Amino acid sequence: CGIVGYIGKRQAAPLLVECLSKLEYRGYDSAGVAIINEKGINIEKCKGRLKNLEEKLNQSPIEGTMGIGHTRWATHGEPSDVNSHPHYNKDMTISVVHNGIIENYLELREWLQTLGYEFKSETDTEVVPHLIDYFYEGDIVKAVMKALDKIEGSYALGVVCSHEPDKMVAVRKDSPLIVGLGEGENFIASDIPAILAYTRDVYLLNDKEIVVLTRDKVEIMTKEGLPVQKEVFHVTWDAEAAEKGGYEHFMIKEIHEQPKAIRDTLTRRIVADSDEIVLDDIKLTAEDLKNIDKIYIVACGTAYHAGLVGKYVIEKLARIPVEVDIASEFRYRDPIINERTLMMVISQSGETADTLAALREAKNRGARVIAITNVVGSSVAREADDILYTWAGPEIAVASTKAYVTQLIAIYIVALYLARLNGKMTVEEYRVIRDELLKLPEKAEEVLNRKEEIQKFAAKNYGHKDIFYLGRGLDFAVALEGALKIKEISYIHAEAYAAGELKHGPIALIDKGVPVIALATQEDLFEKMVSNIKEVVTRGAKVLGVAFDGHEDIEKVVDQTVYIPKTLPLLAPVLSVIPLQLLSYYTAVERGCDVDKPRNLAKSVTVE
Ligand code: G6P
Repeated sequence: CGIVGYIGKRQAAPLLVECLSKLEYRGYDSAGVAIINEKGINIEKCKGRLKNLEEKLNQSPIEGTMGIGHTRWATHGEPSDVNSHPHYNKDMTISVVHNGIIENYLELREWLQTLGYEFKSETDTEVVPHLIDYFYEGDIVKAVMKALDKIEGSYALGVVCSHEPDKMVAVRKDSPLIVGLGEGENFIASDIPAILAYTRDVYLLNDKEIVVLTRDKVEIMTKEGLPVQKEVFHVTWDAEAAEKGGYEHFMIKEIHEQPKAIRDTLTRRIVADSDEIVLDDIKLTAEDLKNIDKIYIVACGTAYHAGLVGKYVIEKLARIPVEVDIASEFRYRDPIINERTLMMVISQSGETADTLAALREAKNRGARVIAITNVVGSSVAREADDILYTWAGPEIAVASTKAYVTQLIAIYIVALYLARLNGKMTVEEYRVIRDELLKLPEKAEEVLNRKEEIQKFAAKNYGHKDIFYLGRGLDFAVALEGALKIKEISYIHAEAYAAGELKHGPIALIDKGVPVIALATQEDLFEKMVSNIKEVVTRGAKVLGVAFDGHEDIEKVVDQTVYIPKTLPLLAPVLSVIPLQLLSYYTAVERGCDVDKPRNLAKSVTVE
């Protein structure tokens, strides 16, 4: 989602819409504004793209020189008018826009309901205006501070109160928020591009800093109310670069967003020190699972590759047989499906035609369907029986990166859930995986810190016509995704092979200087993998190895190694795919390709 706020001399409504238009890449399910004038708080909001809101405001303009605005990417509650922001308290004296996820909203909602608060929407956000209302005693800043003590999760909030019409309050934690500084006017926004047309002087906020904006002043304080001194950051990027957060392409920006995307997708579901897995939209019970004897995972493209990881993980943890299929194949091959089948569809967009058709086919034959998707309210989400949303946020680059890693996280969560449900996993075993999962965001960050190694390899090898990816077990599944990535954006012919299969044919293609990417993260297969690497080295291949820290042995056989932090071999794909994404990115850049919009490809394929 994206939030903005304005306090100044200009008409706020058209200005906020203009600012929001620069944030539409952050979400476009619905949009809304709250404008303060002498009548109080006036809200206009509606489902759909920003232009719907703009038309409404053109038809019935709202006067006022202060307000907040929002463009939404649904997480809790489908895209609809009531679920749109801004949200407000019962007498509409307090209004809030929010970006992030309030983790304990259910608890807070129940508590507020016992106090007589009524809820209009299904959003997590709506607890915030009610909570502030509960604490309000004539000072909006104090009320916000008290409300924050109750809230767990991530947020960037913009708050207005009609009793204090010359003041706006904003705060952030784990969600981006900046303050724009003008002459007699000030701004808040999720991201710099929103306000770049008005000012280039900004404050970059830290977590839990509270900002109070008036027309002439911006005060920043800690959550205890102590003043914070900030340096003004002067933005020198142009508008286009700013939209990409200073990165050259959306793809590299999204690669860097992966630690956050992983964290968001784990949030609330897998919790440190808790043995419970919380899944709001999965109703499958232990009883239901007793009647399941087979799982199908069906998807297209990158989502299919996530499914291949799913097969290993679910079979290993839950001991249920899993078949993975490409949606366009599955739907036409008369698969064996019945009431004893659990079908899992994976789709970033939730709109891929073949995936949707496969889902319908399975449902017709009596299967129960779990969907993993990134888009709330998408067709796949609406038609599935159970849903697990990935919280990657909008993915703009055609080549999928952050959606893929969040699909992996969703798969681990489902696999753990099934394994706990059918008793195939002890609490102790659960805890080991849980603790490692929770360390992944940090470790992904560490992989990104080591990107220069890959940049070097790409700079030396971008000119080749062919490239091979090898791996065993889970590494093979990741190899397939690595090969797809480089094909998609750099147009190099790439093949991924199960390393043990090499000698049955493809080794004939290995020649002097051919680059081979060898994944060797699966410890029990490490020695076998080393033998396979030797097979290609002998034939002249130039090998880039990917291995866990501490496996320096690999250097004896490869030309260059990229190390990734150690984790459980089962979780390695989340980390090992990142160097492969970076490799395709840097290679495509070296080759001068249109990284974000590769030729012949579409982000969402809604035709067969
Ligand atoms: C297209 C995209 C791929 C994506 C695939 C499946 O081919 O270019 O990046 O993996 O569709 O899309 P979905 O939205 O169902 O995950």
